[in-house]
Amino acid sequence: MSYFSIKPSLISFFVLIFVLFAESSYAAKVVDVNEICKQYRNSSFCLTILKSKPGGVEGADLVSLAYHTINIARLNLTNSVTLIMNLISNSSNDTIAKSHYERCLLFFGQDEGALVELDYTEEMLEKEYYFGVNLASISVIVDINECISGEDSEGPPYPNKSDLPRNGVFIQKVIQILLVISQLLYEN
Ligand SMILES: *[C@@H]1O[C@H](CO)[C@@H](O)[C@H](O)[C@H]1NC(C)=O
Ligand SMILES: *[C@@H]1O[C@H](CO)[C@@H](O)[C@H](O)[C@H]1NC(C)=O
Ligand SMILES: *[C@@H]1O[C@H](CO)[C@@H](O)[C@H](O)[C@H]1NC(C)=O
Ligand SMILES: *[C@@H]1O[C@H](CO)[C@@H](O)[C@H](O)[C@H]1NC(C)=O
Ligand SMILES: *[C@@H]1O[C@H](CO)[C@@H](O)[C@H](O)[C@H]1NC(C)=O
Repeated sequence: MSYFSIKPSLISFFVLIFVLFAESSYAAKVVDVNEICKQYRNSSFCLTILKSKPGGVEGADLVSLAYHTINIARLNLTNSVTLIMNLISNSSNDTIAKSHYERCLLFFGQDEGALVELDYTEEMLEKEYYFGVNLASISVIVDINECISGEDSEGPPYPNKSDLPRNGVFIQKVIQILLVISQLLYEN
């Protein structure tokens, strides 16, 4: 008798364990990149980025995809900083250009700009603080905008004379994919 009466509670115990386990391991759950990219406004761009993950997306989890977007953004940001330095040294005769690019260096750069915020996204990811990943991602986007919106002078916006704005937009789009991923991580 007691044998039969214990059964249902045992079953629900295992169900509970399963649910808890499923929730706590969501970050490590294998995900379908199509499901992620459905939530991004240009799913073809999103798929191109995610599928470029070394080793492919087969069996990939959200956290590894998040690291992948950070790596792409870091490479492009680092190259952009080099580009800005070259633009600065080329504009010694153009004070408006020079001050524009110096300002851009501040917002992209290693001292306090987007590169530092990008490092925070990785730090937060390592600590499994996914809401923090989201916040730091937004800072990266805002920092880049400070440069590429060109609204830093009192006059008209600085004209797009280099690859910098195009690179900036690209990095922002990559980081917006990280925003989708981090949101999935902290909502689950
Ligand atoms: C979406 O991304 C692709 C590249 O992946 C690009 O060719 C296309 O123009 C983008 N579409 C929009 C609406 O931005
Ligand atoms: C940034 O990425 C874009 C798209 O892949 C590429 O066209 C551009 O050359 C890259 N820029 C830098 C500075 O790495
Ligand atoms: C800087 O000027 C040199 C010589 O005119 C040119 O070859 C180079 O492409 C310029 N670099 C940038 C980033 O504008
Ligand atoms: C700046 O102007 C000087 C004098 O006109 C010129 O010799 C020099 O090549 C210019 N530098 C750049 C980077 O254009
Ligand atoms: C330069 O490009 C950026 C990014 O595409 C855009 O937001 C900005 O309005 C452009 N500025 C000018 C002056 O064309």
